Amino acid sequence: MLKKIVIAIDGPAGSGKSTAAKNIAQKLGFTYLDTGAMYRAITFLALRSGIVDNISAVIDLAREIDLKLKFENGVTRVFVNDEEVTKEIRSAEVNAKVSDISRIPEVRAELVKMQKKLGSEGNIVAEGRDVTTVVFPDADLKVFLTASIDVRTKRRLREFQDKNISISYDEVQENLEKRDRIDSGRKVSPLRKAEDAIEFDNSALTPEQDLDFLILKIKDVLNKNNNESLGNMVNEQQSD
Ligand code: DC
Repeated sequence: MLKKIVIAIDGPAGSGKSTAAKNIAQKLGFTYLDTGAMYRAITFLALRSGIVDNISAVIDLAREIDLKLKFENGVTRVFVNDEEVTKEIRSAEVNAKVSDISRIPEVRAELVKMQKKLGSEGNIVAEGRDVTTVVFPDADLKVFLTASIDVRTKRRLREFQDKNISISYDEVQENLEKRDRIDSGRKVSPLRKAEDAIEFDNSALTPEQDLDFLILKIKDVLNKNNNESLGNMVNEQQSD
């Protein structure tokens, strides 16, 4: 039986992880695992239930929640207890609170357990803040994706504008910098580059150039691991 391939991508908000991971997943027919969406789903429910500042209630919620991610046609749909919350988890309120919720070790332990299980089920591209270091330390390819703060701010600003949400450049930058500080400075599973991860700054690249680079790296890894059928699959998909 072929070994399941795991590709893990970490990086700060706005570094293009989701776009890269989605593009790879679509190109290779892998599952895409958006771990940030899981932290967002818990944050959304905690906010709605009015318990967001009650740590033990948030931990109970993380232990009880029935969380499902469905990756269909390039979009991850998120369900909590069978209710779809795909749009709601991207709100400014969730953005402002999600880093605090993801600092809680017991919440992380629950989500990491779910993520490892999903990773054992098939070929997967996972992205987040600790997927290269904690969730999948033995991933076949580990990438630390970065981009300048200006580029990351402009990317997020464009996303808000596309949704007709009015927000200033400075507000977006402030939120990104605050989340960077919390995500990289926390005690449990901080965002950091794994020793054996490839560091890649995509500030000057288009998503297509990003994808080309990553597909080359994946091909290298698969060839090295002698995973011939997957290697061929990458070759075939590349000549599309
Ligand atoms: O990638 P994102 O912006 O959707 O992530 C939202 C937040 O979730 C991020 O600010 C930190 C947290 N997160 C985390 O702590 N660990 C992960 N593996 C993924 C996200």
